[in-house]
Parts: sequence; C-alpha cells; structure tokens
Amino acid sequence: METSLDTHPGAPGSSSEVIVPRLDRRMQTLENDLEQILLTEEEIQRRIAEAGEQIARDYAGRDLILIGVLKGASVFMADLARAIDLPLEFDFMAVSSYGAATQTSGVVRILKDLDHEIAGRNVLLVEDIVDSGLTLSYLLKNLRTRKPATLEVCALLQKTGVQQVPLEVKYRLFEIPPVFVVGYGLDFAERFRNLPYVGTLRPEVYRDAI
Ligand code: PRP
Repeated sequence: METSLDTHPGAPGSSSEVIVPRLDRRMQTLENDLEQILLTEEEIQRRIAEAGEQIARDYAGRDLILIGVLKGASVFMADLARAIDLPLEFDFMAVSSYGAATQTSGVVRILKDLDHEIAGRNVLLVEDIVDSGLTLSYLLKNLRTRKPATLEVCALLQKTGVQQVPLEVKYRLFEIPPVFVVGYGLDFAERFRNLPYVGTLRPEVYRDAI
C-alpha cells in the first residue's frame, strides 16, 4: 500500500507545520484476493453516520455503554462510537465460534468477559455480522442474566435467510446475501480485517488455505 504525506499549515499563531498522513485506501495488496466489493467505504460510513444520529436521539439523557464483540466488531465500534454524540462507555467481550473455517460451528465460548458490571445500565451490543445468529443469541441470553436496564443490538451486517434463531436487531445497517464476506473487521484466517470496505473473496483464496 502506498502512503503519501501532505503538509498543512499549523494552527493560527503557530509557525509549525502539521504532517498528516494520507493513506491510499485502495489497499491494492489485499484487493488481489477479492472477488467483489459488496459495500464501499462511503456506503458504510454514510450508514454509520445515520445510525449514530438515531442512537444519539434514542439514548439522549440516558447512560449508555457499548459492548463490542471482539475481534470483528472492533473496527465498526470505533467508527460507530464516534458517530454517537453522547457521553458513553466502552466494554468488550471476546467469544469464539468459527475458528478458521468459513461456516459457523454453533459453539460459543467466552474468551474474555466484560470488565464492568452492567446491572441497571443501558447496554448496546455491537456486532459486525449476524450470520446463523447463534453467537448473538447466546450473548443476549448471557447478558440478560446480568440485569441491564435495557439491552439492544447494533449490527453492521445481517445475512438474509440463514438465521437459526429468532433475533431482534434494533439497529441493523445492512442486509447482505448469505455469502462469506471479509473486510471492515471481518476476517478470513485473521486477514482482511483492515480493509475499509466489505467484499467477497475469490474462491481459490480459501480453497488454497484449507
Ligand atoms: C463472527 C462475528 C460474530 C459471529 C456471527 O465472529 O463477529 O460474532 O461470527 O456468527 P453467527 O451469527 O453464525 O453466530 P468470529 O467467530 O468469526 O470471530 P471474530 O469476530 O474474532 O472474527
């Protein structure tokens, strides 16, 4: 990936120059493995801005804690949180469900629990993708036992027609077809999370990796 540097005048009254890195968002090295871009960076950021405004309206005047599900949701949560113009807190959970395969195993294991108590709090669970829904279903059941005041879900992506359990996702930014996707936090064998958009992989990429 190429990086270039732009120089801009410093703040008024200062003679220094601020160096701002400008990244080439084409990510050419990773793009070679992609088949199709499903959601562009611009589409994702536009929906996040809309969702952030809606969440800020819905939670105005209330305490709010975002719980991100590692690792996939970390990229989304970072952008979403900055689109919500409210005081809020972060916490994270890590669960394991997929391993390196592209199909869900249905097995959910807590690898890292919350750092904070959530009893009486307004909790917004932030997920990158709802596929079978098993991870989310497990997490919601688990979190409900801790007696939050409210518990809602914000998911970047939800696959259509593949959920194995009924789920209510209050803030869903995109519905996508049931295909394996990478980018914007989503990985294949831990790679591609740093793509600023969401796409599908060329089949030979995962065939070669198995
Ligand atoms: C992905 C994703 C969700 C889960 C969704 O996590 O982040 O947590 O799978 O799948 P489901 O609806 O079929 O349960 P993954 O296990 O790939 O971990 P990661 O976030 O660390 O990549």
